[in-house]
Amino acid sequence: METKIFKINSPEDENIKAVGEILREGGLAAIPTETVYGLAGNALDGKCAEKIFAAKGRPSDNPLIVHISSFSQWAPLVKEIPESAKALADAFWPGPLTIILPKSELIPKEVSGGLDTVAVRMPENEIARAIIESAGVPLAAPSANLSGKPSPTTASHVIDDMTGRIDAIVDSGDCNVGVESTVLSLAVYPPRLLRPGQVTPVMLTEILGEIEIDDAVFDKLLDGQEAASPGMKYKHYSPDASVVLVKGSFEKFAKHVNSNAVDGTVALCFEGEEASLSVPAVTYGRRNDPASQAKHIFDALRTVDKIGAKQVFARFPENEGMGLAVFNRLLRAAAFNIIEL
Ligand code: TXA
Ligand code: MG
Repeated sequence: METKIFKINSPEDENIKAVGEILREGGLAAIPTETVYGLAGNALDGKCAEKIFAAKGRPSDNPLIVHISSFSQWAPLVKEIPESAKALADAFWPGPLTIILPKSELIPKEVSGGLDTVAVRMPENEIARAIIESAGVPLAAPSANLSGKPSPTTASHVIDDMTGRIDAIVDSGDCNVGVESTVLSLAVYPPRLLRPGQVTPVMLTEILGEIEIDDAVFDKLLDGQEAASPGMKYKHYSPDASVVLVKGSFEKFAKHVNSNAVDGTVALCFEGEEASLSVPAVTYGRRNDPASQAKHIFDALRTVDKIGAKQVFARFPENEGMGLAVFNRLLRAAAFNIIEL
């Protein structure tokens, strides 16, 4: 299949119409959002969801997030919108928060992965909202990467993974946030954080009072344990190299890396730390700056593969606030492999 590339830098761009038409007619287009690029298709058409799973090579029991451009699109997709959900949407939409509620009949089972709930979010990115509006339907959109690869945060990541597999790719430059949205389920009580993102547990607690953080945010699921969020059970965000997260001061990190270096060892560290390391280094943002780490982590994970890393020692990020989102992604990239010095 030929994949058309549209360069779009403003929500007024004429090409928004062309992308909307592709989507309205049942095609697939990769679109920018503030978090990561999404692989979008009509969320009300089960066949589009099947095409999305095929293009990503993703298991079809992993449900998709439905993206809307206005509040009025939400109510028809869910059984009801409780006060708590309204309060969250008022506080954080448009923005990187996904809210799970019991679904209505409008959502096909292919989109919800067979669950009786649906995940919805209104992206902050204005180009994303203009495309949803132009399509005239809510858009199901998982991250636009091949399943198992790091999520795409630049158009070139999407072009690498999706060329020839989908109808169109919108190139709007780099994503601002860099890690996927916070996923919160309001289909259970207390509300449960399933995936950490820029909207932090503290920010959610301020609106909701008590929330619980799902075990899968920090730990590997045990054999036979059911995942509240099916995405959590898959090996994720993984580069081809084997990654180890190294906890401890930079001095200890550098000593460990330099004395365990073999051919193919790469360090994943913070900006400015490269000079003390005897191996090739890839940086992911600044130390003590989770927002900059979030913005660069997925590109860094792709870069370690590009330079042929076999073994990666990664600096341990702060795991509080937005840092929890970075930690959660790195933990999966490392297949839960941590050493403490
Ligand atoms: O930032 C984002 O959320 C990006 C952009 C494109 O919007 N999208 C994204 O989608 O990350 P995806 O499909 O890669 O991740 C969706 C996650 C998965 O872990 C999935 O299991 C979970 O949300 N999820 C979706 N619907 C769910 C549901 N009904 N119940 C539980 N988990 C759900
Ligand atoms: Mg994803």
